[in-house]
Amino acid sequence: MTAAPSRRAVLRALGTLPVVMAAGGAGAAAADAADAAPALTADQRRLAFATAPAETLAAPLTTLAGGLPPDLTGVLWRNGPAEHERFGHRYGHWFDGDGMVQAFTFTGASVSHRARILDTPKRRRETAAGKRLLPAFSTLPPEVAPIMAPDDMNAANTSVLAHGGRLMALWEGGSALEFDSETLEAGDFVSWRPDLAGAPFSAHPKVEADGTCWNIGCVTFPRLMLLFYRIDPQGRLAAFNALPVDPLGMVHDYVVTKRHLVLVVPPFVIEPERFAAGPISFLDAHVWRPELGTRVIVVDKETLAPVRRYDLPPGFHFHHGNGWEEADGTIHLDLCQAADPMFAIHDLRAVMEGDWGFPSAHPHYRRMVLRPGGAAAIEQVATAVADFPRIDPRRTGLRHRALFALTGARDGGWPLSRVGRIDPDHGVVDGWTYPRHLIPEEHVFVPRGTAEGDGWLVGPFLDLERSAAGLSVFEARHLADGPLWQGLLPYPLPLGLHGTFVAA
Ligand SMILES: [Fe+2]
Repeated sequence: MTAAPSRRAVLRALGTLPVVMAAGGAGAAAADAADAAPALTADQRRLAFATAPAETLAAPLTTLAGGLPPDLTGVLWRNGPAEHERFGHRYGHWFDGDGMVQAFTFTGASVSHRARILDTPKRRRETAAGKRLLPAFSTLPPEVAPIMAPDDMNAANTSVLAHGGRLMALWEGGSALEFDSETLEAGDFVSWRPDLAGAPFSAHPKVEADGTCWNIGCVTFPRLMLLFYRIDPQGRLAAFNALPVDPLGMVHDYVVTKRHLVLVVPPFVIEPERFAAGPISFLDAHVWRPELGTRVIVVDKETLAPVRRYDLPPGFHFHHGNGWEEADGTIHLDLCQAADPMFAIHDLRAVMEGDWGFPSAHPHYRRMVLRPGGAAAIEQVATAVADFPRIDPRRTGLRHRALFALTGARDGGWPLSRVGRIDPDHGVVDGWTYPRHLIPEEHVFVPRGTAEGDGWLVGPFLDLERSAAGLSVFEARHLADGPLWQGLLPYPLPLGLHGTFVAA
């Protein structure tokens, strides 16, 4: 480790007041400090969802304050929608834009950045036409071209998987897209088996400590199905199954435990007949049907067949943290759940217009307990909004004591303004609030040593005052101390979604 950087220097460089948050404290002082900052202008807010300034970008990060840990080496791979506008057409939802992969390379002494818009078959087709042609997650272009397969619309914009010697850009409804680690250029879609070419491979694969990778896929045509994949550490398909599920809710994430995959299906269900009725976006083909409740499907990892089902009250979530099970089969899992999907339907469209009113219910950290006899319960542990949860990856499928997430208060600014550590039993126990003009993205835990939680938390932010993207490194056990280091790029980047750290 380098000499401890000056927290005061970091805070001075950020242009904010020193903020002290005791572990277990509510962070009220931080929220007050953030509220006291000048409100952001609409132009500043729109920068968070502007198109990236170029198709390819590369630059070193300039240190704002602090010092880099010399033993933090590797690459933080990131992905997110970055081409929100093209050919004079602007998408209407955060999740629509064509993906940009990014690499933040840590040498121990410096951090450099590379990024490239992924030139997918979808994007190439639109380039040839000189206009947008394909439906996005939530937006239809003025003219919609015929679609033969989900990958015709694949924006490759949601996450990155590094596994089996390959780097892959992930989307929700289609295949993984391989890309080059040096040039970042898009390669081919990954086909796990010839007959599975084009099958959906979702954006939240789980890699266990032995290198086994699990994933799901959601099929909406010709019938509603969930797909289950087991990929061996060498990147070969080891097992696969398809399970008809009707009605099928929007399942974006899931958990693995020692013996099971657990899928929590919210009652935000797709109605295939809406597709048949005419051009409609994937989001708009979904209907909120709270009377269906939340359904849980527990799948055996050996057979990839369902072994238990549960019914719980309605709610909507995108993300889980982790899952684990006791010897008697009781399963525990984390989720960031809201009362309904309106934040995804309304608020994440409104942000494209610079509207940060956020009137909808937003996700909170909740935990679910599923007992082998059929009893199930869900409880809200934290009072702050929370999303983009990450864990120490060494605890995937095992009992965990720490979850790192973006949290925050509903203070009229960006609602996920704080990085927090959540104890599944006690809620938010540590955290640091970004100043109002710095908008944090998902922060990823990078392990060090052997104990759970020993490591760093690394994540980008967008500085709306400087019009520049940046990156923070925290000591994961001492978030309230503020960043160990922050660096800044000479250009802005739109807010991204997910990433993964690959140690050198
Ligand atoms: Fe996600």
